[in-house]
Amino acid sequence: MILYRKDDTMTQVTPETIKWDDLDFGYIDTGKKYRAYYKDGKWSKGQIETNKDITISEASTALHYGQQAFEGLKAYKTKTGDIQLFRPELNARRMIDSANKLLMPAYPEEDFVEAIHEVVKANAAWVPPYGSGATLYIRPLLIGIGDIVGVQPAKEYLFSIFVTPVGLYFKGGLKPSKFVVSDYDRAAPLGTGANKVGGNYASSYQPGKLAKDQGYSDAIYLDPTTHTKIEEVGSANFYGIKNNTFITPKSPSILPSITKRSLLWLAENRLGMAVEEGDIYLDDLKHFSEAGAMGTAAVISPIASITHQDREYKFHSETEPGPVTKKLYDELTGIQFGTVEAPEGWIQ
Ligand code: COI
Repeated sequence: MILYRKDDTMTQVTPETIKWDDLDFGYIDTGKKYRAYYKDGKWSKGQIETNKDITISEASTALHYGQQAFEGLKAYKTKTGDIQLFRPELNARRMIDSANKLLMPAYPEEDFVEAIHEVVKANAAWVPPYGSGATLYIRPLLIGIGDIVGVQPAKEYLFSIFVTPVGLYFKGGLKPSKFVVSDYDRAAPLGTGANKVGGNYASSYQPGKLAKDQGYSDAIYLDPTTHTKIEEVGSANFYGIKNNTFITPKSPSILPSITKRSLLWLAENRLGMAVEEGDIYLDDLKHFSEAGAMGTAAVISPIASITHQDREYKFHSETEPGPVTKKLYDELTGIQFGTVEAPEGWIQ
């Protein structure tokens, strides 16, 4: 039985009954998961399992010390019904970096990509149709398990992937929304901010809630050393447009987003813009004509304004995305859904 929790009620859905254009960014148990186990120094051959619940030791390092990493990527259905993946090898490499940072055995790149193909094929019926605006979100997870109490790395690990059809992450989609600068940090200056590990996201819960309680979409984080420069937008990267330049922060404490890397390339090579990765001081915001959040989940979500203390920085419009944001969105999503020619090697 497939259960879908929406508005705190449980509904049974199947790929035949689901309303693809009414999905939020939520979890649906699609029934087929990929799992591999690490024990005695090696990975088991991964396989498809059907239980969404996993049983692990109460002494697992993932539960106590946050020894875990995850990834996020999507599968897209094209007009002709093909299923496409967008640069999954970059997720594999980023998860290897996260594993190395937390002293976990990495799941090898080739096996990772093969596992993504396998789990998407097994759940092919759950990939939302072209034109619905929805996608199949893919969530790989690597966690330390087994009986350990001291602060040390686990000896056993689970690599798991589930998929779930999703709608928009920020409710407005291409309608700009408002953000507020947080007084708190999501990651330490030379900590784990550049890795996709759960701890960074747990520390964004409270600032995110404070922002949402005040009516904003989410919190914007400043650099944790000087609190003068923009770092991240909730769980996504930040970009701004100044004259004909696409600008995004460079910092050791932000996530190296695959969407950001792709947009830097597209802005330069497809839109003929200048691109820059560097410091974005709060005061620079007054020179930006457009700003936005970018990430796998957020895609490209335009920002209407950023409030910092008693100052509000406003961008293009409160109702429409700016022209550069719109062009970048069309280019990126066109590539992902197969209507725009993809750069060599970006689509599988
Ligand atoms: C993503 O963009 O894939 C993310 O991981 C963001 C968030 C949903 C955690």
